[in-house]
Amino acid sequence: MTIQYDAARQLFHLQSSSTSYAFELIEGRYPSHLYWGRRIRGNQLHTLASRQERASFSPNPLPERHEISFDTMPHEYPSYGNSDYRTPAFEVQYANGSTVTDLRYESHEIVQGKPSLEGLPATYAEADSEADTLRVTLRDSLSGLAVMLTYTVFNELDAITRSVSFLNEGVETVTLKRVLSMSVDFQHDRYDMLHLSGSWARERDVFRRSLRPGMQSIESRRGSSSHMQNPFVAMLEHGATEDYGDAYGVNFVYSGNFIGGVEVDQFRTARLFMGINPFDFGWKLEAGEVFQAPEAVLVYSPDGLGGMSRIYHELYRTRLCRGTFRDSVRPVLVNNWEATYFNFDADKLEAIAEVGSELGMELFVLDDGWFGRRNSDNSSLGDWFVDERKLPGGLKDVVSRVNKLGMHFGLWFEPEMISPDSELYRNNPDWCLHVPGRYRTQGRNQLVLDLSREDVQQYLIDTVSDVLRSAPITYVKWDMNRNMTEIGSALLPADRQRETAHRYMLGLYNVLESITSAFTNILFESCSGGGGRFDPGMLYYMPQTWTSDNTDAVSRLRIQYGTSIVYPISAMGAHVSEVPNHQVGRITSLETRGHVAMSGNFGYELDLTKFTDEEKGIVREQIIMYKALRELVQFGDFYRLLSPFEGNQSSWMSVSKNKREAMAVYVQVLNEPHSPFGRIKLKGLDPSLNYQLVGTDRVYGGDELMYAGIAVPLFHHDFASILLQFVAE
Ligand code: DGJ
Repeated sequence: MTIQYDAARQLFHLQSSSTSYAFELIEGRYPSHLYWGRRIRGNQLHTLASRQERASFSPNPLPERHEISFDTMPHEYPSYGNSDYRTPAFEVQYANGSTVTDLRYESHEIVQGKPSLEGLPATYAEADSEADTLRVTLRDSLSGLAVMLTYTVFNELDAITRSVSFLNEGVETVTLKRVLSMSVDFQHDRYDMLHLSGSWARERDVFRRSLRPGMQSIESRRGSSSHMQNPFVAMLEHGATEDYGDAYGVNFVYSGNFIGGVEVDQFRTARLFMGINPFDFGWKLEAGEVFQAPEAVLVYSPDGLGGMSRIYHELYRTRLCRGTFRDSVRPVLVNNWEATYFNFDADKLEAIAEVGSELGMELFVLDDGWFGRRNSDNSSLGDWFVDERKLPGGLKDVVSRVNKLGMHFGLWFEPEMISPDSELYRNNPDWCLHVPGRYRTQGRNQLVLDLSREDVQQYLIDTVSDVLRSAPITYVKWDMNRNMTEIGSALLPADRQRETAHRYMLGLYNVLESITSAFTNILFESCSGGGGRFDPGMLYYMPQTWTSDNTDAVSRLRIQYGTSIVYPISAMGAHVSEVPNHQVGRITSLETRGHVAMSGNFGYELDLTKFTDEEKGIVREQIIMYKALRELVQFGDFYRLLSPFEGNQSSWMSVSKNKREAMAVYVQVLNEPHSPFGRIKLKGLDPSLNYQLVGTDRVYGGDELMYAGIAVPLFHHDFASILLQFVAE
C-alpha cells in the first residue's frame, strides 16, 4: 500500500519508492501538512507536528486552544476569511455576497490506480498497481459546498499529483473566483525559487532567486501558458546544485492562464502554490454542479535539479504522453517553412523532398500557406481547403509525389484561429472571441476562434478530420500564433462571461481528444510561435512540441537546456536551419547546428536544393549518425553537464537505460585565447563498465569518464562543438 491512513492519529502518509508526503487532521477537522521529502519508513512523523502559540495577532479557531491558529498552521488547502492571512488556495462568493468558508474534513477514500480527470489532460496509470489515489472530502456545512482534494502517488515514478474539485451540494448558486490546484506550506524559507521565463524566440530561460518575505510569483494572463512564463516553479534548498540537494518541482497540466509561486510570511514559512490564474476568472457553480480543476504534478528529488528533471522526463514520456508515437522513435524531417515561407508550388516542394530523400530524411512537412488564398499571414485561417493555384493536383498529388520519394508527408494547421479575411469569418463573424460593440484586436492579422462554443469545436473537428482523411498524412503540426484579447463569448450569459478563457481550454482539449484519438497513426506536434505553449497539457495530446522559432544553434543552447528542466527530450523539436540565422542573424557551422539539433527530435528547415555537394555529405553523415543515436537521445536518461547560463561552454548527455550506450555534446560559444584545457565529467554511466569512444580505438572506464572526465579539444573558432558517442565493451 502506498497510501497509509493511521486512524488513531488521523494521519495520511503517501509513499512512492523514494518520496514521502504526509498530512494530518488537526482536531479531526483541518488537513494540516506535515512533510514532503525523502521517503520515511512507517508513520513516525509526530516530531514534525509541533504546534505552539506564536502571537496574539494570530486568531484561534478553537477557544482555549491557543496553540492552534490558521495563521500559523501548514494547510493542505488554505482557506481564508477565518484567520489564515496568507494567500488562499480558493475563493468562493456566496449568494449573500459573503466570501467566508469553513472547510472541515468529512470523509476520505483510498483507491487503487488513478482515475482520469474528465475533460482535462492528466498523467495516467496503465495498471491499477502503478498508483494509489487518496480523495479527501472537506465540507462547508453552512453552504453545503464540498471540496475534494485528490492525491495520486505513483509507486515507481516518484511523483505525486494533486487536483481539486468543487461540488455544490447546497441550494444556492455560488461563484468560484479562485481555484488553485495545489498548495504546500514549508516550515522555513531557506530555499531558492526557480522558474522558466522568456519571450518569443527566447523561451524558458532559467531564473533562480533566493526567497524573500512576501509574494514571488509567475503567471500568464495571455490565454495560453505562454512564451513568457512556463507553468512550472521549483523550490531548491540553498546550495542545491544540478546533482545534490533538495529540489521540489510543481508543474501544471494546463495550457491556459495560470499562477504559480511562493509566499513567505511573517514567520518565514513558505507557501508554494499553483493553479488557474484568478485574474479575470470566475465560474458560476449551480446547485448540483461540479468544477474540476486541472492537475499539478509534484516531484521531489534529493539529487538536485538533475534528479528532479529525470523524474519529470520519465513520468511525462511514459505516463503523460499517449498514443502510437509515445514509445516509437521519431522521424527525421524536413520542413519547408524557412525554405519557402508562403512562396511555393508543388514542384518546389517536390524538389526539396527529393534532396531530403536522397540524404536519408524520412518525413516531409508542408508548413503554412497551402490553404485558402494565403500568400502572406493576412488571410485564410479557417478556410481549410487546398489552394489549387499553388497545388493544382490538390493534397493528394503532392502527398503522392512525396510518398513516391520514399518519404512520409506531414501538414501544418492553425485551427484555433480565424482571419478576418476568410470565408469562415465572412459567414460567421460571431465565431471569434469578442465583446459586443468593442474593437476586435488583431494579432498577426488574426482573431481567436471561440472554442468555448460547441459548434465551433465541431466545425474544427470536422474540417481538420476531412483534410486528414483526404490523403495519407502521417504528421500534423498544430500551430497557434497569438494570445487572447477581448475575451468574451457570444453564447455565454453575462454572469458566465468570466468563464470564457477556461471554457476555451476545455473546448480545445475536447477538439484535441477527438482528433488525436481518431487519427492514431498520425504523429502530432504542437506549436505556438515555437514554444509558446510548451506545457504538459499539450503533451498529453501531442507527444512533441516545436521548442522555439529560434533555430540558431547558440540561442538553442539555452532554450533546450531550460526546456529540459521539466520536459523530456522526446518532446522537443529541434531543426538545423539556414545561416545567417533568420531570427538572430548568426552564422554557425553546419556541424554545430547539427550537434545541437541532434539533441532533440531532429530535422532540417531550410532549402535543401541550395546545398553544395560538401554540405550534402555532412548532412548525409549527420542523418546516419542520428538514426544510430535517436533511440538513446529520445528515450535515454538525460544529464546536464555544463550550463549555458553560467559560462561560455555548454554540455549535456544521454545514457541508455541499460547504461551501455551514451552520447555527449560539448559546445564552446566564443573562442577565448589561452583558455584552460577543457574537460567534461560525464554522468550516469556504470563505473564498472568500459566504454569505447566510437570512431576511435580508445577505451575508458565508466569511473574515469565520470570522476576524472574526458578532455575536449582546444577549439580555434567560435561556436565550436563536438559530439562523443560511447558504447560499452
Ligand atoms: C509559427 C511557427 O512557430 C513556425 O514554425 C511556422 O509554422 C509559422 N508559424 C507559420 O506561420
